[in-house]
Amino acid sequence: MDKLLITGGQSLNGVVRASGAKNAALPILAATLLTKQPITIKNLPHLHDITTMLELLGSMGCGVVVDEKMNVQLDVSTVNRTEAPYELVKTMRASILVLGPLVSHFGEAIVSLPGGCAIGSRPVDLHLRGLEAMGADIQVVGGNIVAKVDGRLKGARIFFDKVTVTGTENLLMAAALADGRSVLENAAREPEVVDLAECLIAMGAKITGHGTDTITIDGVEELFGTEYSVMPDRIETGTFLVAAAITAGKVKVIDTDVHSMEAVLAKLEEAGASVEVGEDWIELDMQGRRPKAVNISTAPYPAFPTDMQAQFVALNAIADGVGRVTENIFENRFMHVDEMLRMGADIEVNGNTAIVKGGSALKGAPVMATDLRASASLVLSALVAEGDTKIDRIYHIDRGYECIEEKFGSLGAKISRVLN
Ligand code: EPZ
Repeated sequence: MDKLLITGGQSLNGVVRASGAKNAALPILAATLLTKQPITIKNLPHLHDITTMLELLGSMGCGVVVDEKMNVQLDVSTVNRTEAPYELVKTMRASILVLGPLVSHFGEAIVSLPGGCAIGSRPVDLHLRGLEAMGADIQVVGGNIVAKVDGRLKGARIFFDKVTVTGTENLLMAAALADGRSVLENAAREPEVVDLAECLIAMGAKITGHGTDTITIDGVEELFGTEYSVMPDRIETGTFLVAAAITAGKVKVIDTDVHSMEAVLAKLEEAGASVEVGEDWIELDMQGRRPKAVNISTAPYPAFPTDMQAQFVALNAIADGVGRVTENIFENRFMHVDEMLRMGADIEVNGNTAIVKGGSALKGAPVMATDLRASASLVLSALVAEGDTKIDRIYHIDRGYECIEEKFGSLGAKISRVLN
């Protein structure tokens, strides 16, 4: 298994480009199942999860042509299978996103029920309940979700008991071709949901209210091909900005989305960084300064994102003062803490809150990545630790960060991939 070898102590300086957002690209690729016309999706990040989603679409009979810039042309007219098999779904939970489009456009779907994952049980009950409200017959048979509808789904008013990003996305896609009006209440407001809605509108869908907690969709009979470019990745952007802050450097992230990061930028400024924002770039300067500890409490957008929680635990670990980090979205998203303790961090976890006492220098050590964002925080910790850190199981990192060693290396980090 590949490992990352990092020698800490370098301040990061320079310019890095944000890739397309994984969590916008995945639902948008699933949405291509809603039209039989050729459709082109651009600015896809070169990530394992994207490859898995393209494999999944290909396994259903879609024509998939990818160019060297990771722009993909899909032809759904050749779909001959409406099934997402376990061997693919078990490697990527986001495969659940094909369920809504398949039922809505093809009237049937068999999608393996995603299991839990490292960060929590992550049920999909709200996805299934919403589809039932739209008239789908949903059975769980032998670990598979078997969904069927005679004719078209019917528009429905759906209230989400919990804010769910992919739940909102699945039902948004299902409603786009349903017969009549659907209203999604307590819907997710994440920018990736907005990006999906904008892509569906470009395909001919009638959607309003996306980006608010109430989304209205008037179903149409057919959706059309289009060419759509995926939004930049706000979590990757935030991760590079934290890398600059943690190493007392100065980094400019270009080709990014500056309007979806208010909560993260506010916390970086509270930590003492100076942040400058342009039309499509964000520059963070922490040269010559140590960060101050900040308190974090994760919640659905526009509040502080859970996907940036681990990165701020790493920042607090070397900051001045004590930072309280509370994880309100997932029940087990502090696995990075045990690995950071191996590097000398002073962190105590009580329930869903980590009390991070800064000030101590971290020391390099062999550590293990556990989930996508947690592994990014280990890279950040290694960048500022004394000595060498070897990070194992970095396939977690490759799922969410494109060419991570090249990008950090271009900013001055001493980082390399050890193949074995
Ligand atoms: C999406 O996951 C993201 N993944 C996650 O990013 C992100 O952490 C999460 O949203 C929260 O922002 C993608 O977009 C592919 P949820 P999702 O449904 O949709 C509960 C990453 O690192 N829930 O918003 O699966 C659930 O257990 C990943 O890129 C139900 O109870 O998350 C959780 O506590 C990690 N029933 C809460 O809602 C349901 O039917 C929010 O989950 C659905 C969700």
